[in-house]
Amino acid sequence: MNLSKHLQNNIFKLVGSVADKMGVETYVVGGYVRDILLERPSKDIDFVCVGSGVELAQAVHDELGGNLPFTVFKSFGTAMIKNGDLELEFVGARKESYQRDSRKPIVEDGTLEDDQNRRDFTINAMAISLNKDSFGELMDPFNGQADLASRTIRTPLAPEITFSDDPLRMMRAVRFATQLNFDIEPDTFEAITKMAERIEIVSMERVTDELNKIILAKKPSYGFKLLFYAQLLDKIFPEMVALQGVQTIEDKSHKDNFYHTLQVLDNISENTDDLWLRWAAILHDIAKPATKRFNKKVGWTFHGHEDKGARMVPNIFRRMKLPLGTEMKKVQKLVRLHLRPIPLVRDEITDAAIRRLLFEAGEHTDDLMMLCRADITSKNQNKVKRFLQNFDTVEQRMKEVEEKDKIRNFQPVITGEVVMNTFKVAPGRLVGEIKEALKEAVLEGKIQNEYDQAYDLMLELGRERGLEVVKS
Ligand code: CTP
Repeated sequence: MNLSKHLQNNIFKLVGSVADKMGVETYVVGGYVRDILLERPSKDIDFVCVGSGVELAQAVHDELGGNLPFTVFKSFGTAMIKNGDLELEFVGARKESYQRDSRKPIVEDGTLEDDQNRRDFTINAMAISLNKDSFGELMDPFNGQADLASRTIRTPLAPEITFSDDPLRMMRAVRFATQLNFDIEPDTFEAITKMAERIEIVSMERVTDELNKIILAKKPSYGFKLLFYAQLLDKIFPEMVALQGVQTIEDKSHKDNFYHTLQVLDNISENTDDLWLRWAAILHDIAKPATKRFNKKVGWTFHGHEDKGARMVPNIFRRMKLPLGTEMKKVQKLVRLHLRPIPLVRDEITDAAIRRLLFEAGEHTDDLMMLCRADITSKNQNKVKRFLQNFDTVEQRMKEVEEKDKIRNFQPVITGEVVMNTFKVAPGRLVGEIKEALKEAVLEGKIQNEYDQAYDLMLELGRERGLEVVKS
């Protein structure tokens, strides 16, 4: 098969001619080749040459004018040129271990075939020649094309060897299966289940990177099911495995919260590509196992799972090396508030209750409503319809209250400064109390968040606390 028509970008001719001048066999390899055959867009291009990848990269860099960002990764024997959006990676063909996550990578120069043997999957082990005499020729020793056609993830060598080289590849198998909607070939899958605990020697950052790619796929539940059945999930995210299972007492069962969570995740993924909103879906019921109780009258309860769940979020994020700043805070907030909109549908609900939720959810109000909608997983379509309509009503009321009171981005008109200057008091408990009481008055609708009304109330609150206005 000749793929030269897919190599229209001038970079391939340029790399080929530099390689010809140096007398080294050079190929495009890996994900780029796979994505050409899948007609998928791809950004990064990996080049492999039978010789020094760093020297080839240096020569290509010179040929491109010598000004593009250029990085050499000495310990890996690789180099990268950044050409606008495009990352060009160069590596010399290797024997033995490929890209080991160890401090002492075992690498030896090898042939193209050696290099292909040491790659992760047959679909990632194809190479296209760039040298003039064979430009565009596809080298596919493991029949990656057939695996692409049958949508199969399979290791090129015995899976135990490929996974021992780099156990992260077990996660990558699931990641590619999820992103591409492929099956994992049975022997490959079985090897993962046998070797699952080897994932523990891989750094959490690399594992989480793959997990996030699974989460960002079109149907992330598929990846989580594969991780679960392969027993990888248990090693990397035991809290989620604890959600699985149904318990029955006196004929009363609760739902399987693992599959429910996956349904919520798929539901939200239809509406958003925001990784953190998807994480909120994953974690919204995470404390259900810890809060589960059986009560003879009402059956199963999970009281307080939203608060406990929110408290679990920082530890999970810390362990998974996820960011602990605004992203974590957003997930935590959504987990904590995910039940709050449900009762707001009742007629007797006051504007104050709506204002309180708008105040607490703030800029994440729309995200919260999206999570609540995704959380409806009933099989009864009438129920689903009714619950969704209920949320329409809640949103309508939120809109009305928001238009009137602008609570979402609530900024108190009376600051601590104003309180301190008026009564000439130092910062401390009294100032905090007065500010809190002012905020409460706005949320309860006793006053509007408007300077004169708030100022008068502040004077009253000060007086009640024995403070006097000091004129300066
Ligand atoms: N590779 C490997 N083992 C790994 C990582 C990478 O064999 N643990 C090889 C594969 O041949 C892969 C190539 O290196 O195709 C490039 O890796 P990477 O950029 O991580 O993946 P891509 O296949 O390019 O896919 P994507 O860009 O979607 O991550």
